[in-house]
Amino acid sequence: MKEAIDQLLAQVAALKAANEKEVEEARVRLLGKKGEITKLFEEFRSYSPDLKREFGKKLNELKQAASAKIEELKQCTSAAAEASAPKQDLSMPGTPVQLGSRHPVSIVRQEIVDIFRKFGYDVAEGPEIEDDYHVFEALNFPPNHPARDMQDTFFVSTGHINPLLLRTHTSSVQVRAMETMKLPIRVICPGRVFRNEAISARAHCIFHQVEGLYIDENVTFADLKQAILLFAREMFGADTAIRMRPSYFPFTEPSSEVDVSCNICHGKGCNICKGTGWLEILGCGMVDPNVLEASGIDSKKYSGFAFGMGLERIAMLKWQVNDLRHYFENDLRFLSQFKTATEV
Ligand code: PHE
Repeated sequence: MKEAIDQLLAQVAALKAANEKEVEEARVRLLGKKGEITKLFEEFRSYSPDLKREFGKKLNELKQAASAKIEELKQCTSAAAEASAPKQDLSMPGTPVQLGSRHPVSIVRQEIVDIFRKFGYDVAEGPEIEDDYHVFEALNFPPNHPARDMQDTFFVSTGHINPLLLRTHTSSVQVRAMETMKLPIRVICPGRVFRNEAISARAHCIFHQVEGLYIDENVTFADLKQAILLFAREMFGADTAIRMRPSYFPFTEPSSEVDVSCNICHGKGCNICKGTGWLEILGCGMVDPNVLEASGIDSKKYSGFAFGMGLERIAMLKWQVNDLRHYFENDLRFLSQFKTATEV
């Protein structure tokens, strides 16, 4: 019995199998109904108690060693089988990946930022949830001034002196620029703005602006006009003309609204320019001395101009989009029409 056990123990230790079939064969040979270890157990049953005591432990150890070894080989061979099996059918046709395109508002913003970068402007960003001071107070909107009604506001918190609100224009970023940047300042502020307006083809409660600010010694209205003209020609074409109409903003004096010549009908009159030959694109003016002083800038020494435009509106003119709501509906049939030069 002893030799038989030792011999089988050595056999178990040296056991190898190349695949699952060989493992099963080894299991049947050792532990199956007529297996060699099973046979030893049958023989053991007829032993006297003394002999049983002598061989019982060893025999059990042999059985455990054999079971463990078979289990181990089973796992190795099945893992190997899995690894070598083909994972996917390589002849299957692939799933097409649709290439996205930039949003028209994002394309226009990038174009405007690039133009002003060329003119030497920095880009500044600021918080969308702002305080009353940066959106109104510092921009010469006194408390209860009717001009605050021009920009119906979403308030986040009310009831104290400086309530929080969703910024109604990115002029608030210009205030932050005046507070922190060294003079002279040349900065543009692109960003999202919010106004409590009913949603229609021509108005939305969320839209995007790029506003600009230039402050230095001896900045004049002529500089403003030249900057806007250069911008308009870069944006809408070299033969674009501009027209300035008097307007009102609390933070600029004098203030002006700017139209560009209609690049669709070239002045003949069409339904985009409503027969006038002109399209309104932005508001601008000379920064009110009160605004400079509120941010600690000496208005006797420095002057400046500011301008602001709505990106949805510019994109509407550029691509003749007739309804503002298209920008926010995420309809791929609309969005996939806009490609930048690099995407075509
Ligand atoms: N902040 C103005 C608006 O949102 C635009 C503007 C900016 C006008 C700077 C003049 C100067 O309508």
